[in-house]
Amino acid sequence: MLHLAVRDDDDGDFGEAVLAGLAQPQKTIPARFFYDTIGSELFEKITALPEYYPTRTEVGILTANGAAIATAVGPGRAVIEFGSGSSAKTPLLLRTVAASAYVPIDISAEFLDMAAADLARKLPELPVFPLAADFTRPLKLPAGIVGRPKLGFFPGSTLGNLAPAAAIDLLRAFSDTLGEGSWLVIGLDLRKDSATLEAAYNDAAGVTAAFNLNLLHRINRELDGTIDVDDFTHWAPFNADLGRIEMHLRAVRDTSFTVLGSPVTMAAGETIHTENSYKWTLDEARLLARAAGWDPVDAWTDDAARFALHLWRRDDGAIEP
Ligand code: AVI
Repeated sequence: MLHLAVRDDDDGDFGEAVLAGLAQPQKTIPARFFYDTIGSELFEKITALPEYYPTRTEVGILTANGAAIATAVGPGRAVIEFGSGSSAKTPLLLRTVAASAYVPIDISAEFLDMAAADLARKLPELPVFPLAADFTRPLKLPAGIVGRPKLGFFPGSTLGNLAPAAAIDLLRAFSDTLGEGSWLVIGLDLRKDSATLEAAYNDAAGVTAAFNLNLLHRINRELDGTIDVDDFTHWAPFNADLGRIEMHLRAVRDTSFTVLGSPVTMAAGETIHTENSYKWTLDEARLLARAAGWDPVDAWTDDAARFALHLWRRDDGAIEP
């Protein structure tokens, strides 16, 4: 499972963020709060939905182009994964590049332990150094991999959940953490027709709707919320001007409720903005790389050009004409 390391484990932070977000003119709740236990389970289900192409497409691209990645980066690198590791993609990359060690980084020790245990079963010989930390800031890597060449791994288009400026900051933090001579394999969803995009976030089985609405249930469970969840529907349009899917919770009628005792009123049609998922063209992704101190070396897509796997090398400041 992969999501931003800023996953919430702190109820105080959740309450503050919800009250602050609901006081804005455009009400908002940060997307990191999707991932409580129920939300994380729903996200796993999303990745297997017929309409949600990113996960299986990325695995296909990695399978088809692993040899090219291995040739470019060379064998024996320590692989540093930003996020707690995904059951299918991580062993695939580790085997493909003949990794010498693996460092999963995640803020949740629980997710890290699960990922490390799963990997120990699949690749028992590989040294694993889990690091429980917030990867959005530059980090000191475990002593066990000092001196090894490094390859960062950030699959799943998780970067797309950040606005461009924040995405660049995160990529710079990766560069600082990984250091000189490092490479990065990063999966980014491609911009495409809005019908395909909107289907991926409005699945027929309603799992994405349940994932979105779980935020309201979570507020009721954890913040003494009095929200009538039936007053809301899931709404996920593609915003073509900004190149992103937006997820919202839309009030279907006038409604009012309290959160931690504070009153909130919403008019019919008003929304709570819960997530952005940016979609990057290949050229936009290259610009993003350069803006954040990475050289875009190669990129591979699937036949339908739905998803891209990028290979970047840290820009170590070679003198150019
Ligand atoms: C985690 N992240 C990359 C997913 C995405 O596609 O933006 C989260 C998600 N939201 C709805 N469906 C999936």
